[in-house]
Amino acid sequence: MNVKYFNSYESMSYFAASKLIRRIREIKQPVLGLATGSTPLGLYQELVSQHNKGVVSFENVITFNLDEYVGLGDSHAKSYKTYMRQHLIDKVDFNPKSFHIPNGQAIDLEKECNRYESLLLEKGPIDVQVLGLGHNGHIGFNEPGTPFKTKTHVVELDITTREANSRYFSSVSEVPKRSITMGIKSILRSDEILLLVSGEGKASALDKLLSHEISKEFPASALHRHDAVTVLVDQSSL
Ligand code: F6R
Repeated sequence: MNVKYFNSYESMSYFAASKLIRRIREIKQPVLGLATGSTPLGLYQELVSQHNKGVVSFENVITFNLDEYVGLGDSHAKSYKTYMRQHLIDKVDFNPKSFHIPNGQAIDLEKECNRYESLLLEKGPIDVQVLGLGHNGHIGFNEPGTPFKTKTHVVELDITTREANSRYFSSVSEVPKRSITMGIKSILRSDEILLLVSGEGKASALDKLLSHEISKEFPASALHRHDAVTVLVDQSSL
């Protein structure tokens, strides 16, 4: 695990964007794994800005998002699908058919998880997977206790996760209780992983990760089992 420290959120985001752009230009049909939340917003802003300058095209890029809230989808302002459209997909030259995210409104959630996992296997492996770090060590929405062998599945969100994400909703009771998430196994299949760490209160999760102890009670520790992980730390925000 390679760890890089940055003096600002902007420099961390710029570095992450440059790395993705390099891969997009090297690979004929790049497959990116994407996260939502506050951490990657600067990265997406930078990708849009580089696209507007003519530096990068997303025409041939395929994307897979990590997760989606159960019950939210196309028409909901707080769905992760809407977030991705607002911050990246609708702002660049993506082929909409190449943007994949679990369908949180599927009637049969089990079937939806299997469909998403099969699509990942068919189109993958993911060339670069972007991750954020949850305060409790979650990656995707794999909460503490999730076995490392899990594939895409439905998860009951931790109350701490719902509280942390309530900043996007009018109250914590509005935050959905479940989500569909790529599993730890699905994430570890990626060729390369970029874990972005930024935001108040992430210092203890980062310390835990860097202690190198591997435990399913701290899902991000599974990343020690992958040999191409770079952790980008915005040390100004910790
Ligand atoms: C989001 C996701 C989560 C977030 C994590 C950190 O798609 O999978 O694991 O990356 O909760 O969220 P922020 O960046 O808001 O601190």
